[in-house]
Amino acid sequence: MAKIVVIYYSATGTTYKMALAVKEGAEKTGAEVRLRKVRELAPDEAVASNEGWSNHRLETQNVLEATLSDLEWADAIILGAPTRYGVPAAQLKQFIDTTGPLWAQGKLVNKIGSSFTSAATTHGGHESTILALNNTFYHWGCLIVGPGYADPIQFQSGNPYGTSFTSQNGTVPPDEVTLSAARFQGQRVADVAAMFGHQKQHS
Ligand SMILES: Cc1cc2nc3c(=O)[nH]c(=O)nc-3n(C[C@H](O)[C@H](O)[C@H](O)COP(=O)(O)O)c2cc1C
Repeated sequence: MAKIVVIYYSATGTTYKMALAVKEGAEKTGAEVRLRKVRELAPDEAVASNEGWSNHRLETQNVLEATLSDLEWADAIILGAPTRYGVPAAQLKQFIDTTGPLWAQGKLVNKIGSSFTSAATTHGGHESTILALNNTFYHWGCLIVGPGYADPIQFQSGNPYGTSFTSQNGTVPPDEVTLSAARFQGQRVADVAAMFGHQKQHS
């Protein structure tokens, strides 16, 4: 069975809820799934000044932080981050920027990659954030698997690049269509990783 790591950043919980759904979808295939957050970089005063942010930090205090060994372990890496000025939040980017040792040794080559995001507004940068995350997968030598329109839920959620949700600045939690699309993305990535792993074993 495929090994999947879902690595996310979330300040106020929207992207976290999507990450849980991605994990659930991947697990449905029988895959082994690790859910990992990345380290908070904002100063404690900034987190404390926003109730949603500090509550979410407390809620996820027991979620393990991503490490390079999670990346090495996984057959597929699914990245999720809120959109910030049209690109992924710096916290996730900072983690990505620690992967040099794995990249230099080719340890990320031929893994499956996929991305998701949440943003405040409809045109606030859903695709640009997902595509920015996917740029990293090219450098790592990964195979990018987006959800496409490979399931009927995609015709409702409408984002073939990766699951995305308009949170209206974190005031609205992901709806059922978004969570179903996130589950589908997790499932599809896990299915493709299992098929690809099988091919690799027999080639
Ligand atoms: C510094 C900052 C920059 C942001 N930039 C954007 C943006 O460019 N476009 C957008 O739609 N939302 C933007 N947002 C809103 C977040 O992307 C949105 O509220 C997201 O759903 C938060 O996810 P979270 O609850 O997982 O933290 C920004 C938020 C912050 C704090």
